[in-house]
Amino acid sequence: MKVLVTGGLGFIGSHTVIALFDAGYTPIILDNLSNSSRRVLTQLTKITGNEFEFYEGCISDRALLSTIFSAHKIEGVFHFAALKAVGESTVQPLSYYHNNVSHTITMLEVMAKHNIAKLVFSSSATVYGDPQYLPLDEKHPISATNPYGWTKVMVERILQDYCTANSDALAIALRYFNPVGAHPSGQLGESPNGIPNNLMPYIAQTAIGIREQLNVFGDDYDTHDGTGVRDYIHVQDLVAGHVDAFKHHVKDVGFHPYNLGTGQGYSVLDMVAAFSQSAKCTIDYKICPRREGDVASNFADASKAKQYLNWQATHDLKAMTDDSWRWQTNYPKGLE
Ligand code: NAD
Ligand code: UFG
Repeated sequence: MKVLVTGGLGFIGSHTVIALFDAGYTPIILDNLSNSSRRVLTQLTKITGNEFEFYEGCISDRALLSTIFSAHKIEGVFHFAALKAVGESTVQPLSYYHNNVSHTITMLEVMAKHNIAKLVFSSSATVYGDPQYLPLDEKHPISATNPYGWTKVMVERILQDYCTANSDALAIALRYFNPVGAHPSGQLGESPNGIPNNLMPYIAQTAIGIREQLNVFGDDYDTHDGTGVRDYIHVQDLVAGHVDAFKHHVKDVGFHPYNLGTGQGYSVLDMVAAFSQSAKCTIDYKICPRREGDVASNFADASKAKQYLNWQATHDLKAMTDDSWRWQTNYPKGLE
């Protein structure tokens, strides 16, 4: 069965390509390389022994999409392509609404023309806004605290309305908590451009000496050690959730949101300690003021995915930091 993977050369998309291939699907990749490199294709072949079909271009290119959908019988679209930097979205909101929302609408229109009615969407725990209670379940009210978050809220809303209006449409929205880790082969991982915004790549770059010191954003939160608590999930667990969700719902219609998290929260200092053990070094850090917009704690109730998809995370924190460190040591500067 052929599926299209938009953003398939990015961090999560590329790991999903492998998982889909391993599960017997034929993933076709579409990516505009705005935040990824062609070299990912080489790594995908190294890991799987398979050459993947790749189209370079934007999800809003109607002609290109029509070419892909005419050349291949695509049964579903795994939609990862998006801009994802929260801070950048506050200074360039229009780019985020344009790329993440308008372009997704265009893609849905072309999909409809070609009778492709199944979509798996990369959503985010960011759609819960400021948590009103923990753990966060799928019934928690939807909101956002920045333009990036609103793009996820908007696309989810669009998909719900689309599924209501089209009785044959299926949309699965997977709300990721904090994806970390790397492929266990050490050949594929996350390589953010510039200074990492996220904790795990920042710690990894500090451990290897690219960054001098980790800035810990606040130690006065109401958590067990005062630093922010998040639900870190290994990318391999996350991508398994995509395959399980698609398999489970492939004959269904309607809109189906699921949390993909472990349900276990770790603090910034827990992450530093775990990474130090994997890297066998001390990670230098200093306590800084809180980062604007951060909440004290955020973790998932992932029981819906367990109940309906029979999915649950199996990788522990050590696997997350070990795999991340293996990737970091193999490719200190990413794939470039
Ligand atoms: P990423 O930047 O590594 O991957 C996104 C890929 O999409 C990149 O390869 C980029 O080149 C491509 N892309 C962007 N806009 C495109 C367009 N218009 N047309 C074609 N390709 C385009 O990001 P990621 O971490 O792999 O995230 C994948 C998805 O998961 C995104 O939708 C992101 O918002 C969502 N998500 C990520 C996280 C996280 O922490 N990584 C958390 C929650 C949700
Ligand atoms: N942190 C630091 N120092 C850093 C980076 C982060 O102390 O250099 C702290 C943050 O304050 C927070 C924790 O580490 O307490 C995690 O921060 P991240 O930036 O790694 O992740 P966030 O939880 O802020 O956000 C991530 C993604 C969002 C997504 C959200 C979903 O970046 O896109 O998870 O829960 F929406």
